[in-house]
Amino acid sequence: MATGPYSPPEHSPQIVGGLVRSGDGRDVSNAAAGGDLDGSATQQLPSVLAVRHVEVVYNGVAQVLRGVNLDVAQGKVVALLGGNGAGKTTLLRAITGLLGVHGGEVTKGEVLFNGQSLIGLDAPKIVSAGIAQVMEGRRIFAELSIEENLRTGAFTNRDRAGAAKTMAEIYEMFPVLGERRSQHAGYLSGGEQQMLAIGRAMMAAPKLLLLDEPSLGLAPLIVEQIGDIIRQVNANGTSVLLIEQNAHMALGVSDFASILEHGRVVKSGPSAELRADKDIQDFYLGGASESERSFAEVKSYRRKKKWSS
Ligand SMILES: Nc1ncnc2c1ncn2[C@@H]1O[C@H](COP(=O)(O)OP(=O)(O)OP(=O)(O)O)[C@@H](O)[C@H]1O
Ligand SMILES: [Mg+2]
Repeated sequence: MATGPYSPPEHSPQIVGGLVRSGDGRDVSNAAAGGDLDGSATQQLPSVLAVRHVEVVYNGVAQVLRGVNLDVAQGKVVALLGGNGAGKTTLLRAITGLLGVHGGEVTKGEVLFNGQSLIGLDAPKIVSAGIAQVMEGRRIFAELSIEENLRTGAFTNRDRAGAAKTMAEIYEMFPVLGERRSQHAGYLSGGEQQMLAIGRAMMAAPKLLLLDEPSLGLAPLIVEQIGDIIRQVNANGTSVLLIEQNAHMALGVSDFASILEHGRVVKSGPSAELRADKDIQDFYLGGASESERSFAEVKSYRRKKKWSS
């Protein structure tokens, strides 16, 4: 079992003149396209986020991630699907510098943001570098007004004029927030609170937005709206890593997707291909009917089949 302080991967990537080279000198900053099992599949574009062979251990004993590879290419939406306890939130914590708060640590591997390692940086530095997240469970400040909630998202954004412009854009994207800007956020509906949580993350003007199960507990129509919002955020130039149990929404919105099981990426590829994959249709999309079936429904019974053999 991996314990102790962080140790770099065997073929530790090095940053050489903006290119990331693996230990054996290969350029791994722009991994080859499509479909490989390990989740490092990307398009022919530079990776904004590159997760390389990441292992995470909680409390020095419980290994939760077992060599995860994942890329988010510039300007793309990448979905990470997986059932309860697969390690999705743990991966987000490894990216955002929040593992330590939870008694966890990256014991192996690398997390690179535009080629620079995030390992060892604290959470505010990572936000300043351009990564914002919407945590699981719509964490808004119920006692603060909508506008005050948005302002809390701009704490790293020192550019005041820029922050005001971003706020105006958020009100344009979410008119309901603009209309009710001075009301307590606690009065918003679940869907509106999720919009506010996304808006608050956007106030940091991130290059990469991480979303942890934004559709959780929302009605199908609202889930569709959240999907539209993710598309819009992406169309405005932000790359997105979308963690979801709602495979239908996530595969509809994303360009690429990976499936995480027991801390390993077991399937990965273009979302259109995964949507057409028979196993995924049977297991996660409720057959050819494309119903609203999700991991949340299938997670209650044990897996009968494995993605990988
Ligand atoms: N702070 C912690 N200390 C010890 N174990 C933890 C901690 N946080 C999570 N775990 C364990 O790590 C595993 C992965 O948890 P994680 O929250 O990353 O899963 P998840 O895929 O986000 O699940 P869910 O869909 O339920 O949110 C689980 O077995 C969980 O019990
Ligand atoms: Mg989670």
